[in-house]
Amino acid sequence: MKPEWKTICKVSDIPVLGARVVARGDAVPVAIFRNSEDKVFALLDKCPHKGGPLSQGIVFGERVACPLHNWQIELHNGCAVSPDEGCTQRFAVRVENGEVALDLSELYGE
Ligand code: FES
Repeated sequence: MKPEWKTICKVSDIPVLGARVVARGDAVPVAIFRNSEDKVFALLDKCPHKGGPLSQGIVFGERVACPLHNWQIELHNGCAVSPDEGCTQRFAVRVENGEVALDLSELYGE
């Protein structure tokens, strides 16, 4: 299905090495991360371990450390770094002219 991009914020609205949370009504929010190279990633704000809020973790390289038990999660696919196991949902992100957009159907679908 063709993505239906919705602008969420500017890259500069996301703290460097941090995240911004996108609320989705009753659904688990999505966390949009920005790393030191201004790359932007989006994951479900829920650690694959015990559901910790990844948006409150620290970003380094292309990973985020969960604030609860320090699992390392790969930002590009939402999967835990070995020896830990499990993945959280990742969301497609488009960055254009310094603006971050997410796919509406992915955000609010299902
Ligand atoms: S809940 Fe994330 S490491 Fe335990």
